[in-house]
Amino acid sequence: VSTGDASWSAVSVGVTTALAEAGHTWSDYFDDAADASVVRSFPLSANDLGVLEGAGFGERCFVHLGPAAEAKVRHQQARLRIRRMGSTPIVDDVHVYVADFSNKLSVTVGSPGTLFCGRLGAVVLEVSLGHDGLLVIGDAATINGAKVVAINGRILIKRGAMIADEVLIQGSDQHGIVDLATGAFVNHGKRFVHLGRHTWIGRRVTLLPGVAIGDGAIVGACSVVTKEVPSCCVAAGVPARVVRENVSWSRTWDTLDADAVAFMDEIQAPFRNPEE
Ligand SMILES: CC(C)(COP(=O)(O)OP(=O)(O)OC[C@H]1O[C@@H](n2cnc3c(N)ncnc32)[C@H](O)[C@@H]1OP(=O)(O)O)[C@@H](O)C(=O)NCCC(=O)NCCS
Repeated sequence: VSTGDASWSAVSVGVTTALAEAGHTWSDYFDDAADASVVRSFPLSANDLGVLEGAGFGERCFVHLGPAAEAKVRHQQARLRIRRMGSTPIVDDVHVYVADFSNKLSVTVGSPGTLFCGRLGAVVLEVSLGHDGLLVIGDAATINGAKVVAINGRILIKRGAMIADEVLIQGSDQHGIVDLATGAFVNHGKRFVHLGRHTWIGRRVTLLPGVAIGDGAIVGACSVVTKEVPSCCVAAGVPARVVRENVSWSRTWDTLDADAVAFMDEIQAPFRNPEE
C-alpha cells in the first residue's frame, strides 16, 4: 500500500532544512532535485514490505522507497530490516527513505528519527536511530560494515563516501556530562558528524561527536577521530592527526575511478590517469 507523497514531502523538506542549517546544499548529496524523486511511502505498521522485525511502530512511521530500492526489497535482492529498540513500548514519527542500495541495511529505532539515503552502492550498515536523530547518506556511498549511531544528533555524509568495515560513527555522546560546580551540561554542543564529498574512512575507524571530515580526505585504519580533518589530507592515529596533505584517493589501485576523476575536476587538481 502506497500512501501518496504527503509524508515523503515532509521528510524531504526536513532534510533540506537540516542540510541548509549545516551550510550544505541538496546537490552536495544527491543528483536529482528533491521534488523530482519518484518515491512510494509505506506505513511501517502495515509491514507490507516485510521489512519489520517485531511490532511497536505507530501510524506516523514510514518506509519511503525509490523504484530501484523497492524492486530489490520485494525480490529479496537486498535486505532492509527495521526493528524497535528493546524496552521502548511504541515508537512514532520514524522515516526511513532509501532511493537504492545493495546488500544489507538494518535500522534499530528507539524514538523519532529519520534515515535518508540516496542511490547507495553496496552497503552493510547498522543504524541506531532515535531522539530526533538524522542520518543522511549521499549518492554513490559504499559501506562495508559500519555502525552509525544517529541518536540525538545529525550525521551528514556527502556523495561518494567509501566507508570500510568495523567503522563506528557516533553522532552524539548519547548521555550527559555534568559540571559539578555549575550543574551545566558540558557536552551538548557536539551533536553532529559531517563527512565531506569523496571521503575514505578506513577499517576500524571511530568518528566521535562534533567531527567534520573535509572533502577528499582519508582516515587511516583504527584511528579515533576527535577533531576536524581538513580537506584532502590523510589523518591517522589515536587521536587522529594529519599525516599527509594535498592528496585524495581512488577506489582503484593504479588508475582514477570515475568519482575520483569527477572530484579532482571539481577541485581543479591537475591529476591524470596514466594512459591519458
Ligand atoms: C593511512 C594510510 C592510508 C596510509 O597513508 P599514507 O599517507 O601513505 O601514510 P604513511 O604510511 O606515509 O604514514 C605517515 C605517518 O602516519 C602513520 N600512520 C599511517 N597509518 C596509520 C594508522 N592507521 N594509524 C596510526 N598511524 C598511522 C605512519 O606511521 C607515519 O608516521 P610517521 O610519520 O611518524 O612515521 C594507511 O596507513 C592505512 O591506514 N591503510 C588502511 C586503509 C584501510 O583501512 N583500507 C581498508 C579498505 S577501505
